[in-house]
Amino acid sequence: MAADRLRLTVLVLAAGQGKRMASKRIKLLHPVAGRPMVSYVVDAVRALRPTRVITVIGHQGDEVRDAIGARSDRYVVQSQRRGTGHAVLCAARELAGSRSVLIVNGDLPTLRPVTLRRLAARHRRSGSALTLVTCVIPDASGYGRVERNARGQVLRIVEHRDANREQRKIGEINCGIYFADASKLMPIVKRLRPNNAQGEYYLTDAVHALIENGEKVVAHVHEDAEEVLGVNSRAELARAGAMLYARKAATLQDAGVTLLDAARTWIDPRAKVGRDSVIYPDVIVEGRSVIGEDCVIRPGSRLVDTVLGRGVEIKDHCVLTDSRVGDGAAVGPFAHLRPGSVLAAGVKVGNFVETKKTRLGEGVKASHLSYLGDAEVGPGSNIGAGTITCNYDGELKHVTKLGRGVFIGSDVQLVAPVRVGAGAYVGAGTTVTQDVPAGALALSRTPQANIEGWVERRKARKRRKSARKR
Ligand code: UD1
Ligand code: CA
Repeated sequence: MAADRLRLTVLVLAAGQGKRMASKRIKLLHPVAGRPMVSYVVDAVRALRPTRVITVIGHQGDEVRDAIGARSDRYVVQSQRRGTGHAVLCAARELAGSRSVLIVNGDLPTLRPVTLRRLAARHRRSGSALTLVTCVIPDASGYGRVERNARGQVLRIVEHRDANREQRKIGEINCGIYFADASKLMPIVKRLRPNNAQGEYYLTDAVHALIENGEKVVAHVHEDAEEVLGVNSRAELARAGAMLYARKAATLQDAGVTLLDAARTWIDPRAKVGRDSVIYPDVIVEGRSVIGEDCVIRPGSRLVDTVLGRGVEIKDHCVLTDSRVGDGAAVGPFAHLRPGSVLAAGVKVGNFVETKKTRLGEGVKASHLSYLGDAEVGPGSNIGAGTITCNYDGELKHVTKLGRGVFIGSDVQLVAPVRVGAGAYVGAGTTVTQDVPAGALALSRTPQANIEGWVERRKARKRRKSARKR
């Protein structure tokens, strides 16, 4: 492994604020395709198998630490944001003794491990003191420009705000990814001065200083600019998200998944989708959801951390969260499976049905307008339209248990805790407040009274009234 040979230490710069986001939250915590931006950078550098990952945190550092967790070996606090050079300086003690260091801005969610690996190799081969990544973009405003001499050698990086008119015309920008020889870089970082428009310590000033010292600096132009462009604004945030979703879509398509309109289908990079599944537009698959083979997910549905077996059909406009759906089951349209819903094979959950912390046994049908919460329903049972489990007594939640092959008529309330035995019937409109024995019929209805001729008599009354008024 190249990284092993390099004995690489990684420094992730994550203490900045990100003013251009105009947010209460620091830039790096903004989610991209479901996870904080900085998470991706840490994953990408981890793939190099470095000896250590150190993250420089500052404002909202606790949240950054939560987002990254143990994937960073150490955290260094930069209590005042005085620039990227200062951030590196804050980690100087941690870097003592390291040979190669990879310093990377935390705002690069689309950066791929393969790119880092190639860069590590190039750095190693070139024997340079510093190798940095650049790219060429049509509108470079805001970025640090890479100034080269007539022979194409790098001279310096000039930050946008410090650049003159000529320098601002340069389309090659610094991407904030640097491999360096720590023993050469760190003495220079210690000597940086904040003599610039922002009064900050610029890490980028180290480029010129190294060259002045007679060291070799290599600027590697990365062809795919989109991949290595930092996110600075909300517009770029959206672009980065779209790129991650597009990559995921391409991977799935290669693996035999049909996405009828890939650009309108957002599948979390961590999610899995089985072969020959078909996903319609405007479907959102979040978290670590798993979709089996031969599933169909129709438009407008959202799955969050949900597992579908084989051949499941999710019809239009369903929301499924922390749920499991067995092979060949069908859900929706307009169904809501809330956390803890477990549907066995062949279950049918129809329109306007809500489930929560509920297990439906094999082949159960709940086809219309129901709420099933804290319930267990035995295999082959039928839940009539409008059935409600009354699981909450105002203080506590209670469980409803239905045995196998139970038939619940329409508009039934099951006042929990309550059980209905196997094969029992509950008549339409019944409010079940007591357990129903297996094989019984439960009925609770106010006897119906039919008042013959009532309508005609009412009409006659009305006619008389209006005659009196006239
Ligand atoms: C930086 C580069 C610029 C480059 C651009 C690419 C410098 C001086 N400039 O500019 O050449 O084109 O990235 O996106 O480095 N950070 C800290 N502490 C700080 C300031 C920043 O940890 O005091 C972190 C931020 O969280 C971020 C990274 O450093 O992850 C870069 O900061 P940012 O403010 O985005 O730098 P730019 O001004 O965009
Ligand atoms: Ca930036």
